Amino acid sequence: MRTIAVIALKGGSGKTTLAAHIALAAHLRGMPTLVADTDPQRSAADIFRARQGEGPQCIAVTGHDLFSAQMSAMASGIEAMVIDTAAGAIEDVGQAIVLADLSLLVVRPTLLDIAAAVRTVDVVRRLKKDAMLVVNQAPPARDGVEAPSVKRAMRALEFLRVPIMPTLIRSRLIYQTALETGRSAEEAFDVSAAEEIAELWAFIETHVFEHQDALPLRVADR
Ligand SMILES: Nc1ncnc2c1ncn2[C@@H]1O[C@H](COP(=O)(O)OP(=O)(O)OP(=O)(O)O)[C@@H](O)[C@H]1O
Ligand SMILES: [Mg+2]
Repeated sequence: MRTIAVIALKGGSGKTTLAAHIALAAHLRGMPTLVADTDPQRSAADIFRARQGEGPQCIAVTGHDLFSAQMSAMASGIEAMVIDTAAGAIEDVGQAIVLADLSLLVVRPTLLDIAAAVRTVDVVRRLKKDAMLVVNQAPPARDGVEAPSVKRAMRALEFLRVPIMPTLIRSRLIYQTALETGRSAEEAFDVSAAEEIAELWAFIETHVFEHQDALPLRVADR
């Protein structure tokens, strides 16, 4: 079993949206999948309650109970565990980072979000764990050229010295509407969004599930 934590101390960056899409991607590829919703808002639990038919299991837990949830998941044959975390809940986020094989730090390409990400990176760095930045809600590129705001943000993100997911997740309405019925954008047959999620999943599958040593995801010491 592998565990992915989806983190950002900043609110509204897209943690729940990406946690749900990653869990659904694992489920759709045949992996028994568990979502651990540690956010008292219970947004992930709401999403999976709305889903018809088979899907990932979803449990609501506190950070304190995460370890026992992880042990039970492992014992019951879960292959992928995805932890959704709350903004600002530094203790619960710390627990999630410690228990995860990889933490995905979700960041929007704005300078305010990046400034906030510095704090989250600091927590990961102190815990000496693996993390990866995922840029979410990026405006569309035009003819393959990124918007100036995205270019600026990517340059600023490099200063954090954390690996950056090569696929950017764009701002697309389908990410919101599909989850209203607990479905992934992949199931909603939105070709562009499905491609992004498939690339995000492929990266996670390669580096977390297959060859954990293929890419050094360890956050560099400053
Ligand atoms: N790539 C995207 N394209 C369009 N809308 C998005 C995208 N990602 C997230 N959103 C929307 O942005 C809002 C915040 O997303 P989400 O709830 O996933 O963030 P969060 O980080 O989990 O927030 P919180 O800190 O409150 O838990 C939601 O309305 C969601 O539908
Ligand atoms: Mg959330």
